[in-house]
Amino acid sequence: MASPTFENKASAATAAQFAALGAKIAGLDIRDSEIPSTDKRIDIKCDVSDEDSVIAAVKAVVEKWGTIDVLCNIAGITDKFRKYHYYFRYSVYEEDQADIKSSKTERVTETTNADLNRIMGINFNGPLFLMRHVIPHFLAKPGSIQGQGYNTVLPKKGAIVNICSAAALRGSAAGAIYTSSKHALLGLTRNTACMDAKEGVRTNAVLPGGVATNILNNSGIDPSTQLDPIGFPILQPAHALQPAVCVPDDVARTIVFLAGADGVNGAEVTVDQGWCQA
Ligand SMILES: NC(=O)c1ccc[n+]([C@@H]2O[C@H](COP(=O)([O-])OP(=O)(O)OC[C@H]3O[C@@H](n4cnc5c(N)ncnc54)[C@H](O)[C@@H]3O)[C@@H](O)[C@H]2O)c1
Repeated sequence: MASPTFENKASAATAAQFAALGAKIAGLDIRDSEIPSTDKRIDIKCDVSDEDSVIAAVKAVVEKWGTIDVLCNIAGITDKFRKYHYYFRYSVYEEDQADIKSSKTERVTETTNADLNRIMGINFNGPLFLMRHVIPHFLAKPGSIQGQGYNTVLPKKGAIVNICSAAALRGSAAGAIYTSSKHALLGLTRNTACMDAKEGVRTNAVLPGGVATNILNNSGIDPSTQLDPIGFPILQPAHALQPAVCVPDDVARTIVFLAGADGVNGAEVTVDQGWCQA
């Protein structure tokens, strides 16, 4: 299995762009960091799907840097481009429908509950846990609403950028569980943007199309042998409509922009070379 490198991860590209702006960074990942610590960077091993692990990581970040201004939820895994239900090689509707377990049917692929819980746990629960434990540090900062109506000035307590996917907008980008996890994360982003606006918290979404990273290998999937034989061919015509692949720096640039874009809250920015309009 190919190992990840500095150049081909959205998280690493984002950290590099923030570092160029002089930001203090804490990188949270389930894998050991490949990047050396500096006086402005720490790396913490964290399983974002485990709330206790998230609590410990957030505590360590606040102990190190004093507070948190920006949360970027980038960690994620993909699926095998699979349907959520069992697939039978022969449709039961073409048979006598008497017994779907008959020898005329064969289970070809299935999404297990283990797949469901793992992908939702990392792609949806993880960002939710981080938001849950980081937002109190945003809100603890001084500052309150000034003025009223159009003259209102909101405090600037913190910014969240959630990496969703083009799969948060459409059904033809990925498998059922990944697609559902990114729709859920977009829903959480929209809701938080609405609910926490007056607290001075901005929450925005970046929706990448295909990006040249090792996400399949990092998700434990060998793309040469393990893509779903039923689901992947169904999605391929839609994949072919993306004019070109993006690179991690494209995603990172949008994350950094949204992190600093005062007044922008609840935005959903696609980074897909126009794929979603194809
Ligand atoms: N690559 C694409 O084509 C693509 C497209 C759309 C959206 N995205 C999204 O972009 C984000 C970044 O993906 P990437 O392409 O850079 O992939 P990547 O595999 O290079 O990076 C994902 C990182 O998440 C980490 N991770 C996995 N499970 C974790 C866990 N339980 N706790 C903490 N860290 C964990 C991995 O170790 C890895 O470093 C993901 O949310 C992904 O869904 C990627």
